Amino acid sequence: MKHAFITGASKGLGKALCELLLHENWHVSGISRHHTIAHKNYIPVVCDLSLPGNLEAVQFEASNCKHLLLINNAGSLGEIGPVGSITDEEIIQTISLNLTAAAVLSNKFLKQTQTLDCPKTIVNISSGAGRNPYDGWATYCSTKAGLDMFSMSVAKELNLNGNSATRIFSIAPGVIDTQMQEEIRSKSVNEFSSVERFKLMHQNNQLSTPESIAQKLVSFLAQRDRFSEVCLDVRNLDF
Ligand SMILES: NC(=O)c1ccc[n+]([C@@H]2O[C@H](COP(=O)([O-])OP(=O)(O)OC[C@H]3O[C@@H](n4cnc5c(N)ncnc54)[C@H](OP(=O)(O)O)[C@@H]3O)[C@@H](O)[C@H]2O)c1
Repeated sequence: MKHAFITGASKGLGKALCELLLHENWHVSGISRHHTIAHKNYIPVVCDLSLPGNLEAVQFEASNCKHLLLINNAGSLGEIGPVGSITDEEIIQTISLNLTAAAVLSNKFLKQTQTLDCPKTIVNISSGAGRNPYDGWATYCSTKAGLDMFSMSVAKELNLNGNSATRIFSIAPGVIDTQMQEEIRSKSVNEFSSVERFKLMHQNNQLSTPESIAQKLVSFLAQRDRFSEVCLDVRNLDF
């Protein structure tokens, strides 16, 4: 049995990943506040990941596994706007969801599955915004940069321990046609200056579908040992 734990499973990229893996006979535990998938091998875990106290509810129980996978996909832009104009609470919640939850779940995943002898993979869903600054998105950009550095540091630890069966990656998925992009396009140029670029990309049909990016990520998983780099971008994957 192959078992995947996927955060942000109710819509967008996370839902497409769950559906594809279920189709490929994985068992999937989806972790989000809502659930929209009904399948005999789908286990819904209701959790608001922006509240660190809730993370205790997430347990990585599995046995007889051929592959264990954690995809930290849940994410939010938080409040868009220049620092100095946004609320403290939004900053705290966005960091908790995008970075704290991914780090804590990675820690629990490695701890709770350490006696299971099978390949294990953690994929953190990063963003180009973690590698290039955007005005109006300071919190979001910082959390995604944090995911990249967290992943590179954990990869170093795994290497030092000679643990080649366990891999961690931080992957930017490109621009995907999801609710997050709708939210971006609804903003004004005063909230962030690049909004017109995102509107134009949408008008020119330059957004990927969640299903096509899920397919790329699942193909990547099958070939993960070809890749020595931790931080990747789906737009540079040659399949
Ligand atoms: N779309 C893009 O163009 C793009 C580009 C670069 C990177 N990304 C990254 O890709 C990932 C997926 O984005 P998406 O576009 O698919 O987003 P989306 O359509 O907005 O979906 C976000 C998912 O995260 C979950 N989520 C949000 N807040 C949560 C919370 N407090 N607790 C638990 N789950 C929560 C949502 O589930 P519930 O509401 O049910 O909880 C939902 O399933 C994110 O990490 C995003 O940063 C997206």
